[in-house]
Amino acid sequence: MQGGTLNSAQQRVLSGMRPTGALHLGHYHGVLKNWIKLQHEYDCFFFVADWHALTTHYEDTRDLSGHVWEMVIDWLAAGVNPGSAKLFIQSRVPEHAELQLLLSMITPLGWLERVPTYKDQQEKLRERDLATFGFLGYPLLQSADILIYRAGLVPVGEDQVAHVEFTREIARRFNHIFGREPDFEAKAEAASKKMGKKNAKLYRELRKRYQEQGDHEALDVGRALLESQQNLTMGDRERLYGYLDGGSRSILPEPAALLTEAAKMPGLDGQKMSKSYNNAIGLRDEPEVVTQKLRTMPTDPARVRRTDPGDPAKCPVWQLHKVYSNEEVRSWVETGCTSAGIGCLECKQPIIDAVLKELEPIRERAREFAGNEKLVRNIISDGCEAARDVARDTLEDVRQAMGLAYR
Ligand code: TRP
Ligand code: SF4
Repeated sequence: MQGGTLNSAQQRVLSGMRPTGALHLGHYHGVLKNWIKLQHEYDCFFFVADWHALTTHYEDTRDLSGHVWEMVIDWLAAGVNPGSAKLFIQSRVPEHAELQLLLSMITPLGWLERVPTYKDQQEKLRERDLATFGFLGYPLLQSADILIYRAGLVPVGEDQVAHVEFTREIARRFNHIFGREPDFEAKAEAASKKMGKKNAKLYRELRKRYQEQGDHEALDVGRALLESQQNLTMGDRERLYGYLDGGSRSILPEPAALLTEAAKMPGLDGQKMSKSYNNAIGLRDEPEVVTQKLRTMPTDPARVRRTDPGDPAKCPVWQLHKVYSNEEVRSWVETGCTSAGIGCLECKQPIIDAVLKELEPIRERAREFAGNEKLVRNIISDGCEAARDVARDTLEDVRQAMGLAYR
């Protein structure tokens, strides 16, 4: 079930990030700011995709755990709030793996081979042997990550949209093969009782009025009633929605991609900011390092001497002004650059100021979290527990649908 009947606070958002270690401004502007916004609007689940790292980097795992914790600290420092979103580590919710295994039974090999990243990444990472089962199955692991939480929305970049699309196809195939829950009615009845006697009675009446007399107002009131219930699991809530309007409940709802705009944050050389291009500003870089990086970054190559006019369109610094500067500063740059009225260091100063200002609170919070390992571990433990509760619930339904409920 999608947005139509769930209000946004009940709509679940899920996203994962590979543990790459300390993050940079590209992650902040591209992903984290978006997460921070979403965490106030939706029921958010954000996780460290550590198993995903193994699908490509299985040979040397010495840095893995360090990278996991560094990244979590940077999430927290940037403002991802464990009070609003569940933060956890994939491998600590082993239900993801069981769901991947069960889904693998119905996943045609051709579907996996045709996922665009399969061939692309093999070409790109030629130095690695990626002719592995784990690598081929990686999109299905991602499907399990998403479907285990019955997430409605998955914030991802352009490169990951195909994986969400793949997930939709897997969910559709699963629902087609295993259909609706065998004891849907009984489960819905049981779920209605969890609302308390009075509400359960009201729910039954509204359902009857809608289904027997076609009373649409009753349907609306019934949905509002379900929305206001705090104690229902996602599974029960969906059953009750389905039972109310006479539909059923798809066991694994199809998620939608929530496309994150292409990274607005260019690197120091004008290319996309990335650790491997060596053009990044780390979220925890010291102010002197940040200043030095920006002061030495390249400018329009045509401006050899201070007296040579330049063209902002050919200058990576201008890309940064587009992120950080207001109209007034930008027009100062345009005029000053094209007339050789300002020097490049002068031009960079407002950016240096803005980046330092932006990073100061992040660096400060990172320092606090880094010095309080116990707190960080507790936050993650709580997130893992909360995630597992949801994951277990879904897996229970999946096992049942697949005829495995005899344990
Ligand atoms: N595959 C994603 C990446 O490489 C990370 C990821 C893993 C993910 N599982 C996910 C993203 C589930 C969104 C939803 O960036
Ligand atoms: Fe680039 Fe600014 Fe120098 Fe022009 S003045 S080349 S925009 S750094």
